[in-house]
Amino acid sequence: MIETDLSKCLPVLTLVFFHLSIRVVCVGGDGSVAELCHALVLRAQLDADSPEKPVRATLPLGIIPAGSTDVVSCSVHGVRDPVTAALHIVLGHLQQVDMCSFSSHGQLVCFGFSAMFGFGGRSLARAEKTRWMPSSRRREYALVKTLARLRPEDCQLSFLSARKSNKGEESWVTNQGLYLSISIMSIPCLSPHAPQGLAPNTSLANGSAALIAVGNTSRSEFIKHLKRYSSSTGQFNFSFVETHAVSAVKIRPYSLIGCSEDESEEEGDLKTTPFIHAEGTTFPWNIDGELVEIANEVLIRVHPRLITLYGEEVEEAESSVSCSCI
Ligand SMILES: *[C@@H]1O[C@H](CO)[C@@H](O)[C@H](O)[C@H]1NC(C)=O
Ligand SMILES: *[C@@H]1O[C@H](CO)[C@@H](O)[C@H](O)[C@H]1NC(C)=O
Ligand SMILES: *[C@@H]1O[C@H](CO)[C@@H](O)[C@H](O)[C@H]1NC(C)=O
Ligand SMILES: *[C@@H]1O[C@H](CO)[C@@H](O)[C@H](O)[C@H]1NC(C)=O
Repeated sequence: MIETDLSKCLPVLTLVFFHLSIRVVCVGGDGSVAELCHALVLRAQLDADSPEKPVRATLPLGIIPAGSTDVVSCSVHGVRDPVTAALHIVLGHLQQVDMCSFSSHGQLVCFGFSAMFGFGGRSLARAEKTRWMPSSRRREYALVKTLARLRPEDCQLSFLSARKSNKGEESWVTNQGLYLSISIMSIPCLSPHAPQGLAPNTSLANGSAALIAVGNTSRSEFIKHLKRYSSSTGQFNFSFVETHAVSAVKIRPYSLIGCSEDESEEEGDLKTTPFIHAEGTTFPWNIDGELVEIANEVLIRVHPRLITLYGEEVEEAESSVSCSCI
């Protein structure tokens, strides 16, 4: 998904390719980056003949940001800037980075850095339905539309705290309830919209991920929570938001609350037909900016330092834009 003007990057790319012969460089957004990292890890797994356990990828990956979302690049470069990225690559700054594996029913879905279930997934699913709009408008439209029809997901949320229990056995904490949004992020996910990151309390190679679970609340309180990401503090200081440092998360969605979105796309008010759970219902996930539809329980595990990227840990991203829509 390359949406910026590539000609701007050309001199930079020439410089990079001149310096590297065997390093891997990706020009693109989060989706392409995650896809390449996924491929590098699978390759390492194949080479090591380890079908079950993820294996650390040996080839470092350089990222030149050129997508509609570049939080991975921004998290290792601090800015969404091809030149800064190229300098990190040329100078050989290397940073090991944690990744998550996403699996359902024992089947690997993908490796990635961040995932959003609930609001983030539904908003992306809606954006994908309006492909005819320019990409920036599409995302704002989808955000506003999803906020207008805000409704919680009924699910069972379990997690393993990153602080290891000393007995060495896994002790899952399980909650069941209504959630507007659940995010799992193994990197801070810096962006110009959220200079401290969507997950300021995790780091690139912390060996843990941030779990941010937003319980049901009113629309206005939820918007207040979202808006605080652009400032530096207080985004989690709400009674309906909980955060944990985790090494694994399991999400089992129970049912859709309210109506199916497809049929009532243009209707003003929400039909309330609770607990429809048709056969074949899938739930939209936003995994590194890509829409992934998954029907069942999803298991997410953090794998410390699974991939090596060019770049370094940054405290805060340069902030240049503010979201005009909320
Ligand atoms: C994040 O970490 C800081 C210090 O490390 C702590 O004071 C703060 O409460 C944490 N915030 C969350 C949301 O966990
Ligand atoms: C790193 O992980 C620990 C838990 O293992 C957590 O308490 C801490 O807040 C995390 N973040 C940073 C930036 O160290
Ligand atoms: C979610 O919370 C809002 C505001 O408190 C409430 O009006 C709504 O009924 C709740 N939704 C469900 C499904 O309980
Ligand atoms: C959290 O919010 C409450 C009021 O909602 C405020 O009194 C408190 O100072 C805030 N705490 C932090 C750490 O910002």
